[in-house]
Amino acid sequence: MSSVQQQSIKEAAAYIRGQNGVQPEVGLILGSGLGVLAELIENPVSIAYTDIPHFPVSTVEGHEGELLLGTIHDRPVVLMKGRFHMYEGYGPEVTAFPVRVMKELGVKSLLVTNAAGGINTSFEPGDLMLISDHLNMTGTNPLIGPNDPALGVRFPDMSQAYSRQLRQLAKEVAVGQGIVLREGVYAGLLGPTYETPAEIVMLRTLGADAVGMSTVSEVIVARHSGLEVLGISCISNMAAGILDQPLSHDEVMETAEKVREKFLALVMAIIPKM
Ligand code: HPA
Repeated sequence: MSSVQQQSIKEAAAYIRGQNGVQPEVGLILGSGLGVLAELIENPVSIAYTDIPHFPVSTVEGHEGELLLGTIHDRPVVLMKGRFHMYEGYGPEVTAFPVRVMKELGVKSLLVTNAAGGINTSFEPGDLMLISDHLNMTGTNPLIGPNDPALGVRFPDMSQAYSRQLRQLAKEVAVGQGIVLREGVYAGLLGPTYETPAEIVMLRTLGADAVGMSTVSEVIVARHSGLEVLGISCISNMAAGILDQPLSHDEVMETAEKVREKFLALVMAIIPKM
């Protein structure tokens, strides 16, 4: 990343700091239909993406573009309500820009959530899946280009992309809440088409348990930045070809609505301990 981009990160962070005194420790990026967590932030300060210097603007239905700063059970957080997807036309480094800004704001750990299609046939729509690892199937990488050593190393280790410690924490919290938490590998594709049944067979063969169109570029940048990552997928539908029915964004949003309470109970209990 060039120093021009580093300057953009600093300018965005400076603007955000100027709106709010809280220094966030945990970053939250929420997937389709899971933005309800935003309503539970205490003393929230809302900043529209359009007001933040250099911030991209989200375009997809069901995603809102605002950054919220506040606390969750006394833990200072920064929450992205609405994220940037490569299918919107953004490069992977753009989708990951807010992660850089979070790091600059002082964030140490990142919770990423998404809606995903279930590839593992033992899953059911409405299940929550702890992401154990991912397959970057986007064909690109947000770190392509000159590396700025001030931001991270040239060849980042991805052997624990999703923190073992945070996964253990999530499992313990889930048990305590009586919530069944699946665990598996998330395959991140470009979209915006849902997959063909043949692609789902391929992904299953490659070791994927769930598939979606987000997360991987954000997590790559988070690891490059030295952030610890926890990822949770909401299995919103079974992936193409598993059931004899077409896939739709409406179904994704409906399932997210149904898991709302379970999802909120889980993440609200995890966040203070991250
Ligand atoms: N495929 C890709 N992305 C998704 C899906 C899916 O089946 N469901 C929700 N996001």
